[in-house]
Amino acid sequence: MCGIIGYVGNKPAMPILINALLSMEYRGYDSAGVALIEQENLRLVRAPGKMANLLKKIGDDHGLATVGIGHTRWATHGAPTEINAHPHLDCQGKIALLHNGIIENYLEIKTKLQAQGHIFRSDTDTEVLPHLLEHYYQGDLGAAMRKVVTELRGAYAIVAICVQEPGKLVAARQDSPLIVGLGDKEFFFASDMAALVEHTREMMVLQNGDVAELCEEGVTVYHNNQKVGRRILHVEWDKEAAQKGGYPHYMIKEIHEQGVALRQTLRGRLERNAAAIDLGELDFSEEYIRGVNKIAIVACGTAYHAGLVGKYALEKMLRLPVEVDIASEFRYRDPLVNSQTLVIVVSQSGETADTLAALRESKKRGAKVLAICNVVASSIALEADYVLFTYAGKETAVASTKAYSTQLMIFYMFAIYLAARLGKLNASEQQKLTEELCALPEKVQQLLSDTEKRIKALTEKLFLEGRQDCFFIGRGLDNYVAMEGALKLKEISYIHAEAYAAGELKHGTIALIEPGTPVIALCTQQSLQEKMISNIKELQARGAYVAGLCFLGNEQIEQVCEETLQVPETIDLLAPILSVVPLQMLAYYAALARECDVDQPRNLAKSVTVE
Ligand code: F6R
Repeated sequence: MCGIIGYVGNKPAMPILINALLSMEYRGYDSAGVALIEQENLRLVRAPGKMANLLKKIGDDHGLATVGIGHTRWATHGAPTEINAHPHLDCQGKIALLHNGIIENYLEIKTKLQAQGHIFRSDTDTEVLPHLLEHYYQGDLGAAMRKVVTELRGAYAIVAICVQEPGKLVAARQDSPLIVGLGDKEFFFASDMAALVEHTREMMVLQNGDVAELCEEGVTVYHNNQKVGRRILHVEWDKEAAQKGGYPHYMIKEIHEQGVALRQTLRGRLERNAAAIDLGELDFSEEYIRGVNKIAIVACGTAYHAGLVGKYALEKMLRLPVEVDIASEFRYRDPLVNSQTLVIVVSQSGETADTLAALRESKKRGAKVLAICNVVASSIALEADYVLFTYAGKETAVASTKAYSTQLMIFYMFAIYLAARLGKLNASEQQKLTEELCALPEKVQQLLSDTEKRIKALTEKLFLEGRQDCFFIGRGLDNYVAMEGALKLKEISYIHAEAYAAGELKHGTIALIEPGTPVIALCTQQSLQEKMISNIKELQARGAYVAGLCFLGNEQIEQVCEETLQVPETIDLLAPILSVVPLQMLAYYAALARECDVDQPRNLAKSVTVE
């Protein structure tokens, strides 16, 4: 996601901004820009694409400005063009501002400001902020910012400068990280400690609702208009560790980011106590959705596994046939797709060649295509008729984790949204589901903090004695999550793993079970629990060592299995968002124990752009 840097001090700001932006490149971005105050004027340089383009535009003239802000943008609202790149300016070109996050009520604010005569130049939500600052500005940028934030809904880390107060930076934070770096007569704002560690180890993490001002003398933080103190941390991390947020690998960092990522997926679409899901980005006409008689989901790998869960949810709620295909198979089987089929392609990167080819094939056959995608300016997002972005943030580890859980969240929201529009879900069913969807980010966070140690210990028990194989079994939705668990284990730990529908093993594969074979039995689907227990018993009778995965407090599963992994209770239909988390961790700790390259497993690439 976007990277932010702000500097005020006694050194030339430009090289500091450039180096900081380069050190945040790993976060992912598609345009970049800087704004500096030079002799009471703003110098603004922005460029689409990579940092090299920005550096070319800046050239050798770094100037002597000692105050400035810089940004790498990961597009959300508006294409990654120069005009949409940050910083953005007010009407008079005196205030420059950059932002990470999404301002949910930007349209409302924009309409109001336009009516007052403000001129907008970009397609971004961000641009309302410098204009709103201009509206409130009366000689004190900090005071204006404290007024601005009272009007905002959404997530933001904002940093602004103003030529009328050339030695000052002002920032605000809500649900997007923002850190203050405290150096010797120089101060910084950054979205990431990695951008600061080469300048200072003294850092302050701003809290939600804080507005902070930096000048050469130091930092002042306000909360609810009152000055407050914030703790100063001494950070020992080197640059690489800081990029990983202090975690040893991107994969475990991204596993831990799932609570936040899921909140981002929900944001603006479903709020607590909201009567309905708002998927305003889908301008489906009534006539179109009533004419759809089949849904076809197409994707690869982890995204395909998300599609299987999507099928289950959509069929259950819509009572419409839903097919799921592996993208590399789809177009060669002459699929039954026409203008009455809604095709859903799922892709984290938005660049997977097979999925893109399936999208094009579907359009050729007259179908409309909805993409569930994480990367805004990707080919799949651009070519699809409709897009639902997951907003999971950049996923760097090759093994997909937060992309999967946010894809599931989109499928659930989409199924509920469509079922409600088609009159197939009554208000109380809808409310029960949406309340629980809103509770899931917190449950994921709770699960992460409760079970990590336990999973680490279990992994060592299951795999350290040189075991080369493992089974994941389940019924119904659990079977689909088992497939994702097996894929995770295979791809990063190189342990052979097979996912099996629990009732199907006895038709052949049970021959592979021998004393000590590890089996992860997913048991979150309560209506299928008795059948699962019978299948577990069949495996134990042949010597399998079974770890059950169930809701907290499920004593029956605890009694039957050798080990249990427990996740907070939820509605059975929504269980995959929780049950996948211990499986991701299991794979991570197995790979770690076997000293595998967790983030860059052998033979794999993050984005598969060949067929
Ligand atoms: C597994 C994994 C892959 C991807 C697949 C599709 O952890 O990441 O299986 O899910 O290559 O990639 P996207 O979602 O980018 O289309």
